[in-house]
Amino acid sequence: MYGPTLRGQLALMRAPRIEEAATMSAWFEDLEVTATILRRFPPGLGEEEDWLRRMATDPASILWAVEHEGRLVGTTGVHGIDWHSGHGTTGLVLGDKSVWGRGLAREVMSMRTRFLFCETTLRSLRSGYLDGNLASAKAQAGAGYREVGRWHEAYFRGGEWRDHVLTEVRRQDWEAANPD
Ligand SMILES: CC(C)(COP(=O)(O)OP(=O)(O)OC[C@H]1O[C@@H](n2cnc3c(N)ncnc32)[C@H](O)[C@@H]1OP(=O)(O)O)[C@@H](O)C(=O)NCCC(=O)NCCS
Repeated sequence: MYGPTLRGQLALMRAPRIEEAATMSAWFEDLEVTATILRRFPPGLGEEEDWLRRMATDPASILWAVEHEGRLVGTTGVHGIDWHSGHGTTGLVLGDKSVWGRGLAREVMSMRTRFLFCETTLRSLRSGYLDGNLASAKAQAGAGYREVGRWHEAYFRGGEWRDHVLTEVRRQDWEAANPD
């Protein structure tokens, strides 16, 4: 599924479009972008288009494109949703590096969490980051995610093995922190 439009002060989250596949696949050609995510190699155009088509009809995913100042800068979503048990795994890639450090991740993760807890019945959102990805760690913490464990030396990046820090935000904790 694609997500409905959500407007923040910095970011617009909206349904992605197939014709945006070329822009999206090009993000993954940049080693700085992939340094902190699990995917290492860029998808081909056809693979990216297939992925966007699959996401549109996948009941276990909700995918958004992220716009900033009128242009596409990233994607975010929740995947592997188990609607019976009420959990799924969230992710965010801002592939346009020029927008890093402006507070977009913080806002997008907060809007995404609010939507998923106020408009769906999900009870727990799982995520993670590679140890050392301070921006992701802080943005996730700002949206209520807490570290629940780690897989040690799970991925090789920049000549070092990095831990995969596992995080989670639970509905009851988020509601207690966001009573309005
Ligand atoms: C990680 C990523 C999503 C962060 O997005 P961003 O919009 O630059 O992050 P923000 O500007 O919202 O910053 C979030 C927090 O991190 C801090 N921060 C931003 N860049 C930072 C950096 N390089 N080092 C340390 N802290 C940083 C900000 O000050 C902010 O802190 P605050 O919440 O205390 O104010 C983005 O860089 C990205 O998409 N990177 C590539 C893919 C990726 O790593 N995705 C996440 C996988 S878990």
